[in-house]
Amino acid sequence: MLSGKNILIGITGGIAAYKIPSLIRLLKKAGAEVQVVVTPMAKEFITPLTLSTLSGRPLLIDFHDTKSGKWNSHIELGMWPDLMLIAPVTANTMGKMVNGIADNLLITTYLSAKCPIMFAPAMDLDMYKHPSTVNNVKRLLADGNILIEPKEGELASGLCGEGRMEEPTEIFELIVDQLKKKADLADKTILISAGPTHEAIDPVRFIGNHSSGIMGYELAKTCVARGAKVILVSGPTHLSISSPKVKLIKVISAEEMNNACITNFPEVDITIMAAAVADYKPKKKSNQKIKKSNSIPTIELVPTNDILAKMGTLKKQSQLLIGFALETNNEIENAKQKLENKNLDLIVLNSLQHKGAGFGQSTNQISLIDRNKQVADFELKPKKEVASDIVNKIVSLL
Ligand code: CTP
Repeated sequence: MLSGKNILIGITGGIAAYKIPSLIRLLKKAGAEVQVVVTPMAKEFITPLTLSTLSGRPLLIDFHDTKSGKWNSHIELGMWPDLMLIAPVTANTMGKMVNGIADNLLITTYLSAKCPIMFAPAMDLDMYKHPSTVNNVKRLLADGNILIEPKEGELASGLCGEGRMEEPTEIFELIVDQLKKKADLADKTILISAGPTHEAIDPVRFIGNHSSGIMGYELAKTCVARGAKVILVSGPTHLSISSPKVKLIKVISAEEMNNACITNFPEVDITIMAAAVADYKPKKKSNQKIKKSNSIPTIELVPTNDILAKMGTLKKQSQLLIGFALETNNEIENAKQKLENKNLDLIVLNSLQHKGAGFGQSTNQISLIDRNKQVADFELKPKKEVASDIVNKIVSLL
């Protein structure tokens, strides 16, 4: 099942390290090559002999192996795997990963790695709930890493709660799923737009909308995890993403978004317009702040370019074009019409009728409509899972 796959396991100093030998056995049985790298603390929890015997490769701990005289290059190590798993990962190592504190071989390898990276935290429940840990997990996710969430249960301390590392059989399944997915967008370049646009009225005011950008950013992360290069054109959001495979272009207005998208469009294989682009902008932007006066001002609006519609006219046979539709009534018919009018291959319909779906939510409920007008309805789910559903459909259209 995993023959030809290289898996690098990084182990840090947590008691859950005792579970890793079972995982190595499962991976080896499935045909994978496994290399283990540990932090100095980790070898207090599990013996180097166990790990090298099971993996069939010498355990890597230091930059310089004094016994063999060999220099362990983190650059080479970072290029070797198809997937890197850091498990268990302690609060200490997560802090170092987030801040780039590269004081051991595991962290330097993490910073050099070119593959998808999964991390499985394990610690006591209060440590896991601490705002510092919560923030570090969020930042690791924003950097494109894949979280293997700890489970609730009995902890080594004797306490009971969230913080228990996932079981080896489950981690094995997640690795298999990830590796299966990884290849299906390899060699593809994908243009994704995200977030709102702000149309300036004067230097301090604008016309905007409630889009958070989460859906577009989740799509970007999913595409990268599945092997694609992404050009992410983002309107103003509080989100961040950093991956060598993402080129982030930050824009503010619909015009800037139009320019960035149209310039990059000829070079990409797939375009997903998830942004909530303003349909109108003020005809004139005042250079001075508009002062309050006795008469009520009128703002004259002019239409913006419909970026998606323009791309529909430029689209080559080899390109896929995906749009979003946010509707409040007659949803399916309106979305089908948009698919037709804008020459799309797929349209993602968000209905504001569904509770928990749409702008500013962490969840979404969508329907996907393809060129054959086939409608597939999905349940309400976290936006990360919605992104997977959308990408699975896109892959089926390739
Ligand atoms: N879109 C775009 N450029 C615009 C407006 C919208 O590229 N100026 C894209 C959005 O990113 C989305 C799709 O068009 O993928 C649908 O946007 P929406 O505003 O829902 O539809 P419109 O065609 O603008 O029609 P209406 O607002 O009347 O529903």
